[in-house]
Amino acid sequence: MNIRESLESDKEGIRKVHQNAFSQAEGETASQLAIDLLEDRAALPFLSLVAEQDNEIIGNIIFSSASITGAEGVSAYILSPLAVLKFAQSKGLGTQLINQGLEVLKDRGGKIVLVYGDPNYYIRTGFKAGHKLKPPQKLSYPEEAWMAQELVGGILANTQGIVQCASSLNSPEQW
Ligand SMILES: CC(C)(COP(=O)(O)OP(=O)(O)OC[C@H]1O[C@@H](n2cnc3c(N)ncnc32)[C@H](O)[C@@H]1OP(=O)(O)O)[C@@H](O)C(=O)NCCC(=O)NCCS
Repeated sequence: MNIRESLESDKEGIRKVHQNAFSQAEGETASQLAIDLLEDRAALPFLSLVAEQDNEIIGNIIFSSASITGAEGVSAYILSPLAVLKFAQSKGLGTQLINQGLEVLKDRGGKIVLVYGDPNYYIRTGFKAGHKLKPPQKLSYPEEAWMAQELVGGILANTQGIVQCASSLNSPEQW
């Protein structure tokens, strides 16, 4: 298994991963979101990693660029979507994709990474609620699902504002 940045030619494989991993309706939304983000100039600079095994894409994670109104100089990213093919789940791949992504973003000067998802899963890779960054849309899940992680020590305590995400991620049904 190899983790690398995705290429233009990986789009079909990426779509399939999200369709397979999520339930049917969610799969359509998540796979479309992944493709839209890869084509969204407002998401740049994004980081899209794929896990590949025997020439098949078995996992994908996308971190798209976000800005913070009130903290304009702080480089931030939103993690979404993340999926691993059903047969490859629970073997640590999701965790590897997250950790590798965080390392690359840190090397590229990223300061904060946000995620809106299941706290029971994301807490394992260092995401926490209770920060001072407001989401781009009204949340349909409890606030604990809106988590952040700092890539530079102390930055979350000193940063507040409203997160503005790429347009593909900015529709109320994503939140
Ligand atoms: C979530 C997902 C990416 C995790 O990938 P993975 O490769 O299976 O993750 P890991 O192997 O690193 O971790 C697996 C562990 O996370 C747990 N887990 C998976 N989803 C979870 C969730 N939503 N809440 C809590 N725990 C979760 C598994 O039960 C497993 O626990 P175990 O280690 O005690 O067996 C994968 O399950 C998936 O694609 N799910 C469908 C899409 C999805 O929900 N994406 C995330 C949106 S927030």
